[in-house]
Amino acid sequence: MVKKFINDRITRLLQIKALKLSFTLILSVLYFQPAFSQESSPGDIPSDEASIAAGKATFQELCTVCHAVDKRVVGPALMNVYERRDLPWIISFVKNSQKVISSGDPYAVALYNEYNKTQMSNFDYLSDEEIINIVAYIKHETDNPATPQAAASEDAAAGGAEAVEQGGIPSQYLTAILAGLLVILVIILGVLMLIISVLTKYLKDKKDLDEESQELVAQKLDFGKFFTSSGFLGLMIFLFAAVAFKSVIDGLYTVGVQQNYEPTQPIAFSHALHAGEYEIDCNYCHTGVMKSKNANIPSANICMNCHGQILTESPEIAKIYKALDYDKRTQTYGPNQKPIEWVRIHNLPDLAYFNHSQHVKVGGIECQTCHGEIQEMTVVKQHANLTMGWCIDCHRQTDVNTVGNKYYDQLVELHEASNKNQLKVKDIGGLECSKCHY
Ligand code: HEC
Ligand code: HEC
Ligand code: HEC
Ligand code: HEC
Ligand code: HEC
Ligand code: HEC
Repeated sequence: MVKKFINDRITRLLQIKALKLSFTLILSVLYFQPAFSQESSPGDIPSDEASIAAGKATFQELCTVCHAVDKRVVGPALMNVYERRDLPWIISFVKNSQKVISSGDPYAVALYNEYNKTQMSNFDYLSDEEIINIVAYIKHETDNPATPQAAASEDAAAGGAEAVEQGGIPSQYLTAILAGLLVILVIILGVLMLIISVLTKYLKDKKDLDEESQELVAQKLDFGKFFTSSGFLGLMIFLFAAVAFKSVIDGLYTVGVQQNYEPTQPIAFSHALHAGEYEIDCNYCHTGVMKSKNANIPSANICMNCHGQILTESPEIAKIYKALDYDKRTQTYGPNQKPIEWVRIHNLPDLAYFNHSQHVKVGGIECQTCHGEIQEMTVVKQHANLTMGWCIDCHRQTDVNTVGNKYYDQLVELHEASNKNQLKVKDIGGLECSKCHY
C-alpha cells in the first residue's frame, strides 16, 4: 500500500520534471529564434544587456538632439537602419558623414539632399564598438517599441515614489481627507441624534420612571440659549481672531514669494515638446548649469541649429527669424538683430547667492528636485517657493555627495570620527549666513 503510494509520487514527480523540461526547451527555442534568424543580417549586432545599455547612454548623450528611433526629428528615424545599411557603412557614416557623402555614395547623397543638406556632426572619436552598441540599442528599441501606456505608468510610479520620498501628503489629498473626516463626523452626529430621539420617545412612553429621570427626559435642548451663552460667544470670538491672525501672518510670509508664477512667453516654446517628447538634454540649451552660477537662457542661435531646417513655415518660428533678422530664402542673417525678450520666472533677490554648478555638478541634484517636472510643462511654472526656509530645509536634510570627490575625503574622515550621522550640507557650512548672503 505504502509502496504503491510512494511509487505514485515518484512517477508524478518525474512527469512534472519532464513537463518542465519540455517547457524550458520550447521557451529556449522561442527565445533563441531571433538570434538564429539574425545570422542572415550583415555583421553581428550584440543583443546582451550591457551593450544595449552602453549604446543607450551614448545615443542619449550624442544623438537624441537630432534623432529618435521611432520618428523623424532633425535627422531620419533610426528604426531598422541596420536593415537599410550594413554595419561598416553605418560606422563610417557616423564617424564622418561628409566623407561618405562626398565619396559619391548614392544612398548617402540622396539622404543628404532629402534632409536639405543638413550636416550631421562627426563622431570620429567614437570607437567601432561604441557605434555597434548604439546600433544594438536601436535594434532593441525597434524590436521592443515603448508603449506610451507603459511610459505613463512608469511616470506615475515615479511620481508616487517622489511623494513618498518627500514624506508629506500632497495638499490636495490633505483637503480631501479633511473633507472626508468632516462628512463622517456629520453622519455620526446625525446617527447620535436619531438614537437620542428614539430613546427619548421610548422613555416617554414608559410610566414607571422616578421623578428625576422624568424631568431629564422632558428636558429639551435649548439651542437659542446655548448660542447666546457667553462661553459659546467667547469661543467663537477666539476662533475667529486666531484664523484672522494666521492668515495675516501667512500673507506676510508670502510677500515676494512667486511660487507657481507662470507668465506667457513671447514665443510659445514648450519644454514638454523639446525636453519631454524629443528628449533634448537640458544642458544643450541651458549651457551654464554644469559650469557656472547661471543656467543661462539659450540664445536664438541655439534654436537655429534645428529651426533653420524644421518648421520653417510656423508663425512661432518666424519670431525667431525676426529676432535674428534671418531671411529664410537666402539663408542669411541681417544686421538688425535683437534678443528675444523671455520673461524671467525664477528670481532670487540680489542679497542671496545661488550657484547652479555647485548643486547640479558637485551636489548631483536633479533639475526636477528644484524646478519640478519641467519636461512635462508646456509653459514653465515656478515649482518651489525659493524662500530661505526652502534652501535651509534641504541643507539640513541632504547628504553631501562625497563619492568620488577627493575634495571631501579628509572632511568625511574627520566627520566620521566625531559623528555617526552622514555628512550633511549643514555640516559643511550650508547654514552659514555668509555662504548665501553677500
Ligand atoms: C546635428 C544633428 C545630428 C546629430 C547630432 C546626429 N545625427 Fe545622424 N543624421 C543627421 C541628419 C540630418 C541625417 C540625414 C543625412 C544627412 O543630412 O547628412 C542623419 C543620418 C544618420 C544616419 C543614416 C540614417 C538612414 O536612414 O540611413 C545614421 C545611421 C545616423 N544619422 C546615426 C547617428 C548617430 C548614431 C548619432 C549619434 C552618435 C547621430 N546620427 C547624431 C543629423 C544628426
Ligand atoms: C531647446 C532648448 C531648451 C531645452 C532642451 C530646455 N530648455 Fe529650459 N528653457 C528654454 C527657453 C527658451 C526658456 C525661456 C522660455 C521659457 O521660460 O519657456 C527656458 C526656461 C527654463 C526655465 C525657467 C527660467 C526662468 O526664467 O526662471 C527653467 C527652470 C528651465 N528652462 C529648465 C529646464 C530643464 C530642467 C530642462 C531639461 C529637462 C530644460 N529647461 C530644457 C530652452 C530649453
Ligand atoms: C535639437 C533641435 C531643436 C532645438 C535646438 C530647438 N527646437 Fe524647437 N522644435 C524642435 C522639434 C523637433 C519641434 C517639433 C516639430 C514638429 O512638431 O514637427 C520643435 C517645435 C518648436 C515649436 C512649435 C512650433 C509650431 O508651430 O508648432 C516652437 C515654438 C519651437 N520649437 C521653438 C523653439 C525655440 C524658441 C528654440 C530655441 C530656444 C528651439 N525651438 C530649439 C526641435 C528643436
Ligand atoms: C538646488 C536647486 C536647483 C537645482 C538642482 C537647479 N536649479 Fe535652476 N534655479 C534654481 C534657483 C534658486 C534659481 C534662481 C536663481 C537666481 O535667481 O539667481 C534657478 C534658476 C534657473 C534658471 C533661470 C536662469 C538662470 O540662469 O538663473 C534656469 C534656466 C534654470 N534654473 C535651469 C536649471 C536646469 C537646467 C537645472 C538642471 C541641470 C537646474 N536649473 C537645477 C535652483 C535650482
Ligand atoms: C534640493 C536640495 C537643495 C536646495 C533646495 C538648495 N541647496 Fe544649496 N546645497 C545643496 C547641496 C547638496 C550642497 C552641497 C554641494 C557640495 O557638495 O558642495 C549645497 C551647497 C550650497 C552652498 C555651498 C555651501 C558650502 O558650504 O560650500 C551654497 C552657498 C548653497 N548651497 C546655497 C543655496 C541657496 C541660496 C539655496 C536656495 C535658493 C539652496 N542652496 C537650495 C542642496 C540644496
Ligand atoms: C542656504 C542659503 C541661506 C543661508 C545659509 C542663509 N540665508 Fe538668508 N536668505 C536666503 C535666501 C535665498 C533669501 C531670499 C528669500 C526670499 O526672497 O524670500 C534669504 C533672505 C534673508 C533675509 C530677508 C531679506 C529680505 O529682504 O526679505 C534675511 C534678513 C536673511 N536672509 C538673513 C539671514 C541670516 C541672518 C542668516 C544666518 C543665520 C541667513 N540669512 C542664512 C538664503 C540663505
